[in-house]
Amino acid sequence: MKKDLVKKYLKVYKHKSVAKWFPFIRPTEIEEAINKGCIFSVNIDGKIAGVVMYGRYKNQNKRNLGDRGDVVLKHIVTLPEFQGKGVAKKLYKHVEEFAKIVKAQKLVLSVQKKNDRANAFYKKMGMKIVGKRNWNSKKEGVIEGFIYTKTITKNKLSLLTA
Ligand SMILES: CC(C)(COP(=O)(O)OP(=O)(O)OC[C@H]1O[C@@H](n2cnc3c(N)ncnc32)[C@H](O)[C@@H]1OP(=O)(O)O)[C@@H](O)C(=O)NCCC(=O)NCCS
Repeated sequence: MKKDLVKKYLKVYKHKSVAKWFPFIRPTEIEEAINKGCIFSVNIDGKIAGVVMYGRYKNQNKRNLGDRGDVVLKHIVTLPEFQGKGVAKKLYKHVEEFAKIVKAQKLVLSVQKKNDRANAFYKKMGMKIVGKRNWNSKKEGVIEGFIYTKTITKNKLSLLTA
């Protein structure tokens, strides 16, 4: 049963029109997200229209993406036939809501610099670029990217000094 679900989600991320943005996704990562309850989909007419995977840092992220307790939005996708209908916005809002519930200070993510649609989308969601990161790909060499964050809850100190 769980294997079927992993396959279903993987099929969405590996759809030919979007797979280039997810070169590193493996079935094990999806299975882990299912086990932790950190994967959410929007379904339209019984079909998966979009999926988001997310998580929470137990410690400072080793690539300086975020701090302990921050929520990370890992992979968001809307299948082409459903794009432009607010599907990704619903997926994003689900993750933001999770971040509020767990009282995370920030929501963080990274995205490839050349992914214009995704960069436009994250900016529309109110996220701000705070840094750069690179990935090393066997096929493409160095892939450049941006780090985005959005403040969710202020810590006590910043509340006192705000
Ligand atoms: C980026 C992506 C997830 C957006 O999905 P979507 O379901 O089409 O987005 P939505 O319809 O929910 O759009 C939400 C908002 O973002 C804006 N937006 C979405 N794509 C945009 C684009 N290409 N340019 C400008 N704004 C855009 C919409 O106008 C909308 O704004 P509104 O709330 O004011 O109406 C989708 O294009 C996708 O799956 N791309 C391929 C996979 C990918 O790149 N994922 C990110 C890798 S980290």
